[in-house]
Amino acid sequence: MAEIPAFLNDEYMPLEACQISPLDRGFIFGDGVYELIPVYDRKAFCLQPHLVRLARSLEQVHIQNPYTHKQWEGIVENLIRQSNCIDLAVYIQVTRGIAPRDHGFPENTSPTVFAMANLLADIADEQLQKGVALNIVKDTRWQRCDIKVIDLLPNVLAKQSALQAGAAEAIMVRDGFALEGSSSNLFVVRDGEVFTHPKDSLILPGITRDVILELLGVLGQKCHEQAIPENWLYEADELWITSSAKGILAATTVNQCPVGNGAPGKLWKDVYDLYQQRKFLG
Ligand code: PDD
Repeated sequence: MAEIPAFLNDEYMPLEACQISPLDRGFIFGDGVYELIPVYDRKAFCLQPHLVRLARSLEQVHIQNPYTHKQWEGIVENLIRQSNCIDLAVYIQVTRGIAPRDHGFPENTSPTVFAMANLLADIADEQLQKGVALNIVKDTRWQRCDIKVIDLLPNVLAKQSALQAGAAEAIMVRDGFALEGSSSNLFVVRDGEVFTHPKDSLILPGITRDVILELLGVLGQKCHEQAIPENWLYEADELWITSSAKGILAATTVNQCPVGNGAPGKLWKDVYDLYQQRKFLG
């Protein structure tokens, strides 16, 4: 397997060489935030919005941003340079640092910064041709899903229950509304119009979601950022999930019921094609 370039607290090294204390608050409390930045053809995609979101996540959890925007850009660029892969997923994680286990913030502790550049796997042809299956789960997450925190246990459990049901992604439902996937945002096409949950504290403000809204604008497509009743999932003409890891995928079943005519829809294909072009503009 090719070596995975990594970065830990100001030093570049292969992933296997990284060592982190078990007292790191990321390990002990899940006390940290992260980003996942896709790299297409060795160029980071939407790097600026990812770094802005990282800065916001840090601010929201009161961890001092250890680097300037320029320094973050340099770290991402160096990791890309050190990798042999063409398409990459650059993962960045910042935790509150190492300290004796105690819930309150430690004094005089500097954040732990870890990053790595993994291969960004191609989407399987079958997923593009046939679409993917969704499984509805109850959203058991906290009330600040807008912060990209590393504690992902509810997301992990949701995803696993979807996988066990033979689906590719779990859709989180809270108080009768379908919010987003375990690691993706959700779009619903209904009567020729597109709907996605607004950017509030119940979803992650996805960078791909913003790109898709921009592309829908290019297509002159009407979009609504509003809450989506759960039953709309069963009445939709099309359902899409979006993320930095997977781009935009059509979902063709939800809890085993076909979506629309059971095949990826025409609007998905138009947006997917535009996204493929947009990817290489950075
Ligand atoms: N997850 N919603 C959740 C809960 C997510 O975890 C993600 C991304 C998204 C999509 O956001 P973006 O378009 O910025 O990737 C929405 C990443 C890919 C992950 O956890 O690996």
